[in-house]
Amino acid sequence: MKKRKVALITGASKRIGASIVRELHHSGYNVIIHYGSSAEIAHDLATSLNLQRENSATCLQGDLLSIESIEALAKKAVSAWGGINALVNNASSFYPTSIESATEKDWDNLLGSNLKGPFFLTQQLLKTLTSHRGCVVNIIDIHADKPLSNHPIYCMAKAGLAMMTKSLAKDLAPDIRVNGVSPGAILWPETENETKEKLAILEKIPLKSIGETSDIANTVKFLVEDAPYITGQILTVDGGRSLSM
Ligand SMILES: NC(=O)c1ccc[n+]([C@@H]2O[C@H](COP(=O)([O-])OP(=O)(O)OC[C@H]3O[C@@H](n4cnc5c(N)ncnc54)[C@H](OP(=O)(O)O)[C@@H]3O)[C@@H](O)[C@H]2O)c1
Repeated sequence: MKKRKVALITGASKRIGASIVRELHHSGYNVIIHYGSSAEIAHDLATSLNLQRENSATCLQGDLLSIESIEALAKKAVSAWGGINALVNNASSFYPTSIESATEKDWDNLLGSNLKGPFFLTQQLLKTLTSHRGCVVNIIDIHADKPLSNHPIYCMAKAGLAMMTKSLAKDLAPDIRVNGVSPGAILWPETENETKEKLAILEKIPLKSIGETSDIANTVKFLVEDAPYITGQILTVDGGRSLSM
């Protein structure tokens, strides 16, 4: 029987990450669902995928702020099925940090989850990604280019992730392709409930709706599976929002 390809998706128990997991699993990948604190939801997702196809999904916990934890995650991920073909850096923390009130903890948390984690996880997986001629997809944000008010640290972290995508695409070619997907408004943050703010955002999107998690998952699948001659690119998936920001 042909060996299945393996994808590791970070922050993947729910929302956009879970959609990417389902899409890659549907494409035939064995999936490693990384989570930070959402153990139960991650295991439920793995169980449902394993019911569809036996021994095709597993979960791994890891704190992306800690290098030791990243190293342990990478080791366990490689030993799950003997290697990794695709890494999707999706995990992220996101919240406002005004210049007046931001703390070192906010800095470490936002830069850690959005930039340091993806960098060192990629580093830890270089050997296996190289030997499989694998790929990395970083989930960025349209606000990597155009700042979101009161979110300077998050925007700086995503801008760094965009540059990391291009830098590593150059440095890791021809063995590993590195690309990014920049979502616009896809899912409201779990804490967001201000309808007025939501309407104001919708008003600015030419396609007049927020996106669906499948819009991001399909784009990730395209970059992973159907784009062997694309590296160093960041695809914007935002209903046209960034045209007039
Ligand atoms: N939602 C949108 O509309 C939107 C728009 C633009 C860009 N994006 C980007 O798209 C990606 C997915 O967005 P989302 O809204 O689905 O993400 P999310 O729900 O805000 O976060 C995804 C997961 O990241 C994990 N995470 C955060 N910090 C971590 C850490 N230090 N260590 C380990 N895991 C950590 C959390 O896992 P646990 O729950 O297991 O702790 C969380 O469930 C993110 O990169 C985001 O920046 C999203």
